[in-house]
Amino acid sequence: MITLKVNGATHAVDVDPEMPLLWVLRETLGLTGVKYGCGVAACGACTVHVDGAAVRACSLPVSAAAGAAIVTIEGLPASAGLPAGELHPVQRAWVAVQVPQCGYCQSGMIMTTAALLKHTSKPTDAEIDAAITNLCRCGTYPRVRRAIRALAETA
Ligand code: FES
Ligand code: FES
Repeated sequence: MITLKVNGATHAVDVDPEMPLLWVLRETLGLTGVKYGCGVAACGACTVHVDGAAVRACSLPVSAAAGAAIVTIEGLPASAGLPAGELHPVQRAWVAVQVPQCGYCQSGMIMTTAALLKHTSKPTDAEIDAAITNLCRCGTYPRVRRAIRALAETA
């Protein structure tokens, strides 16, 4: 059994220790906001927070996340101390700027952005480029940048 702390709740999961965290989150715990894109740490669709850092869950063995504080898009508002039903500021900015198109990559984009802004509240364009390496088939990159700039202005 592996003990995982996900979105503030503790779960004992009986899975192969080498199984990628992504599949345990989606298949065992039903947290389907975490998306599968490439499976090789290239696209960022599977991004979650592990002890506050943006991590690509498709490429992290579940055993490596045992005991760490894992946050998925489902738990992002609560991780910032917000009550149930409220959106995280990054999610609100995403709505205001109308960032998503098909939406598939966007939970990963939001999780990566939230991790960036936690330690760098006013990122430069170069810092945005370095942090947001997520891929988007719909090409939402300009709006992602616009939303991040809007958040930085109010920080
Ligand atoms: S599915 Fe994990 S980086 Fe693409
Ligand atoms: S919004 Fe469609 S892949 Fe990014």
